[in-house]
Amino acid sequence: MTNLNDIIERIDLLAPIPAIASQIMTKSQDPGSSLSEIAELIANDPALTANLLKICNSAYFGLPRKVESVKDAVTYVGLDQIVELVLANGVADNFSKGLEGYGLGEGELWHHAVTSAYVAKSLAQRYGVSQNKHLIYTAALLKDIGKLILGRFVAFSSEKINILVHSQGYSFNDAEKNVIGMNHEELGAMVAEKWSFSEKLIYIIRHHHLTDESAQQDLETTLIYLADIICMMMGICAGTDGLSYRFYSDVLKRINVSEKDLQGIIAETSENQQKIEQLLKLF
Ligand SMILES: [Fe+2]
Repeated sequence: MTNLNDIIERIDLLAPIPAIASQIMTKSQDPGSSLSEIAELIANDPALTANLLKICNSAYFGLPRKVESVKDAVTYVGLDQIVELVLANGVADNFSKGLEGYGLGEGELWHHAVTSAYVAKSLAQRYGVSQNKHLIYTAALLKDIGKLILGRFVAFSSEKINILVHSQGYSFNDAEKNVIGMNHEELGAMVAEKWSFSEKLIYIIRHHHLTDESAQQDLETTLIYLADIICMMMGICAGTDGLSYRFYSDVLKRINVSEKDLQGIIAETSENQQKIEQLLKLF
């Protein structure tokens, strides 16, 4: 088994999320903070503002006029989308790298993360968790952050992991735990703790594969799990582990999602794939 300290030490080598993105993440999850506070925070960071204006003025948004300030951007693009762009911009570099252990080429984890976030947001709108939409978006985007570190250890142990998954019926995360001593959810939660994410965000990252039964009762975690499963089912940069996680069909009943609903979400995501791919190129 790998020495877990060798893995944990690598958390410090991960490029940290920029302070401004982290502040906006905290503010956007706090119902007490106002929209103007968030806009002001962005406007006080010239590099971020410049990047944001470049993105808002791209063909992707097709705005009728040139956006020249954060205030303009908020008016024409909407604050919710601005917050999402800031968060995505803060983690794009980390998530864009290829991950050998998971069979993901350059940009593939990023593609999966952004599509999951899109699906999770759409699920949240359908199933009434809109008061926490930024948390849902962020959690879906960051759920696999542990893979950024664990990838090299998975690559090193791939033979043993594959035997457990393909010959002994282990789910991929159980095989990671068995062979390496830790899975990507646990490691992701450690990164999230180190980076002072909110308690709820840490919880969702730790439980996003719903292995723990109590997490199956938690609506937000269930929606992130479902968004992940939908992207895996659609084969969106699913990697070598993509189809090797448990599917808990009971959670669909619990949150009132029928098979027809699921098909509807998949069809809607397929229709928007081109748009999502266009968005990915902006970072
Ligand atoms: Fe995962």
